[in-house]
Amino acid sequence: MADAPELAAGARKVLADEVAAPFREEIRKAVADMGGVGPKLVGFLANADPAAKKYAEWTGKAMTADNLRFELRQVEEGSLEDELEKANKEPDVDGIMIYYPVFGQRPSFHGGSHDDYLRDTVSPYKDAEGLNHFYRRALYRNKRSVDSAGSKKCVLPCTPLAVVKTLEHLQMYDPHLPVGERMTGKTAVVVNRSEVVGRPVAAMLANDGAKVWSVDIDSLYIFTRGKLVLPSTDTTVEAAVKEADIVILGVPSDKYKMDPSWIKEGAVVINVATTKNIDEKVLLATRPGVRYMGQIGKVTVAMLERNLLRLHQNFKEQDRCIVLDAERFVEGRLTALSYSICMIISEAVKPDASAGPFPRNAILFSRAGGLNTKMVRLTSTSRSICPCASEADMSSRATTLALRLQTDTSVHKVMDAPTKHDSSDFLRHCEAVFKLLKLSKDEKLAAVVAVLAEELLDGFDFSKFPNTQKQAEQLCVAWSMKERVETSTSTESGSSFLFSSF
Ligand SMILES: NC(=O)c1ccc[n+]([C@@H]2O[C@H](COP(=O)([O-])OP(=O)(O)OC[C@H]3O[C@@H](n4cnc5c(N)ncnc54)[C@H](O)[C@@H]3O)[C@@H](O)[C@H]2O)c1
Repeated sequence: MADAPELAAGARKVLADEVAAPFREEIRKAVADMGGVGPKLVGFLANADPAAKKYAEWTGKAMTADNLRFELRQVEEGSLEDELEKANKEPDVDGIMIYYPVFGQRPSFHGGSHDDYLRDTVSPYKDAEGLNHFYRRALYRNKRSVDSAGSKKCVLPCTPLAVVKTLEHLQMYDPHLPVGERMTGKTAVVVNRSEVVGRPVAAMLANDGAKVWSVDIDSLYIFTRGKLVLPSTDTTVEAAVKEADIVILGVPSDKYKMDPSWIKEGAVVINVATTKNIDEKVLLATRPGVRYMGQIGKVTVAMLERNLLRLHQNFKEQDRCIVLDAERFVEGRLTALSYSICMIISEAVKPDASAGPFPRNAILFSRAGGLNTKMVRLTSTSRSICPCASEADMSSRATTLALRLQTDTSVHKVMDAPTKHDSSDFLRHCEAVFKLLKLSKDEKLAAVVAVLAEELLDGFDFSKFPNTQKQAEQLCVAWSMKERVETSTSTESGSSFLFSSF
């Protein structure tokens, strides 16, 4: 029998299972509460890398064990973007991940890294890895939820999140301090500054109050809450590591070995890289109180599962998007028009009057002229008003939104109050719309409204009902009706919504 490894006083090896188990248990419980059928993740494998294939098999096994649904799609690299596009729109797909590298360092038509471009191609509503621009930006701005009410937390990149959860498990965060302060007084060193591992880890620790030394092959920075500081040029990695309570190692090379004698007594060392960046035996035998995790993969997969569940919880119910252009809600007609429209849509989307006059799932894009106080008051219980300074501003925001939602801009038809009708005409039209919407099923709403918007511009005619209904149905099929919209609370003084910062 092999001898038990020699350990310095209080030193121990931490296994990934120990950290992952409670999360997986939580996930199984949540799925049981959902009736035993969990959300679905689609993994895209577009390379021949055996390591990626292994990771895919491993994700599949873990997910099946936890009653989550997993489908591996093996595709040619050239068709990956189109396949992603499809999955973004499939109603049954709750999360998407890609096994990287796909293009790696190869030159890209799109500029920069093609893998980065692919990361941004995954819809924020389905980005189980939390790697697209939306979540990256939220992370670097320390914005922790997708809604202003703070009820829907952002997903975070899986490996950095696995590091954070491991550190929490090892009580490196002080739970008695407020959220965002719990690493105050701690120093960390992160060796790796890639966009998927080292940089987000460093930012997450800094966001919680730690001083973080970010080490890469050619530079040494200090990260503190949203700031990058250049240390004096004579600072060495050795000096930084010697003061660190936490050391994260992520160098993808056999040749890199950190000297274990640099590690402070009682520090936590996590080796994220697949290669061993430090001699485990020497570290555990010579550094008292050190806790060392050599492989974090199982925690990463648990975080992937957690992200999938969170996406499902955050967005499943929000699958409709209507964009209204309120530019022509001018004084005089304002109350009648806006109120009618709000009531119509409210009734159709959510017949529950206590939810307020405006539907949860609509976004009102309003040009400044149209959004006056009455309008704001009317829609104050709505969750999504996006005031725009001009038509150009509105159209650029709507386009950005559509891009972010991975939909065609044309989905977001503008409902425009017709100038040629007076308010009594419009009210009659509204009545007609109202009746029609009552006939239509919820999921057809956006299409129906879009078609009706066109009808309204041309004047509305009851005899057109059957045709309108048919068009709406065709559009529903064409658009697959899975456009999801985040909502947020708007107030008299201002409003915000998920995409307003783009
Ligand atoms: N287990 C997991 O969950 C998981 C997840 C992702 C990545 N990984 C592993 O982590 C490692 C890093 O992955 P990645 O995607 O960040 O790789 P990457 O190649 O994209 O980035 C590596 C980073 O380390 C830096 N680096 C290289 N040599 C260095 C040195 N001598 N000193 C300091 N920095 C150095 C590089 O400049 C780069 O910033 C790989 O081994 C990868 O397999 C593990």
